[in-house]
Amino acid sequence: MKGPAPVEVEISKLLSDRRSPYAFDPERDVSETDMRALMEAARWAASASNIQPWRYIVGVRGRSDEVRERVHSVLLGGNQPWTANAPVLILTVVNTENDGKPNVSAEHDMGLASAQLTVEATARGLVVHQMAGVDLAAANAEFGIAKPERVLTALAVGYQASAEVIPENYARRDEAPRTRKSIDDMIVVGSL
Ligand SMILES: Cc1cc2nc3c(=O)[nH]c(=O)nc-3n(C[C@H](O)[C@H](O)[C@H](O)COP(=O)(O)O)c2cc1C
Repeated sequence: MKGPAPVEVEISKLLSDRRSPYAFDPERDVSETDMRALMEAARWAASASNIQPWRYIVGVRGRSDEVRERVHSVLLGGNQPWTANAPVLILTVVNTENDGKPNVSAEHDMGLASAQLTVEATARGLVVHQMAGVDLAAANAEFGIAKPERVLTALAVGYQASAEVIPENYARRDEAPRTRKSIDDMIVVGSL
């Protein structure tokens, strides 16, 4: 089972506990209270000029099953087997313009909103697995998303399960050691 990050420096547990597992509990649904809190967390992200260029397409098992199925249908093949168990499937929708001009930080701000959603999910015992593996053209067409908006990524949300609930190739990924570049490798120039 994928566990917390093996950090070199102690950080907030909300950050070191966050992880992107493949194994979701197929029998545990996410409450509406938790879903509203995840959206509230995203809502209060910082954004350039407070433009808030993010929206979400939200499919929740038991409450918006049809949307969840449609989100699942536009995920790329490699993401379809394991997300079948995830009770919540979300598409992120970014608006890359503001007042007819390009918003150069739109994707940055969309990522921030989703990062906040992810931290709140961790605080509530949920896990979030983000995905770029989305058929973007199909996703935009499926939900009628048009310029200046476009689908950017997908999020699977739910409760983590042991790796037995997923095919062997995905289970191996959940069992693999978690790695990162070193802090030094992150610094272009300067000192800490
Ligand atoms: C923007 C983004 C796109 C990602 N796309 C995929 C994806 O399509 N499929 C997948 O299995 N994991 C995807 N991931 C998960 C990453 O592989 C994962 O975050 C990384 O391996 C680090 O693992 P951790 O999140 O557990 O620390 C994505 C993560 C992010 C942030």
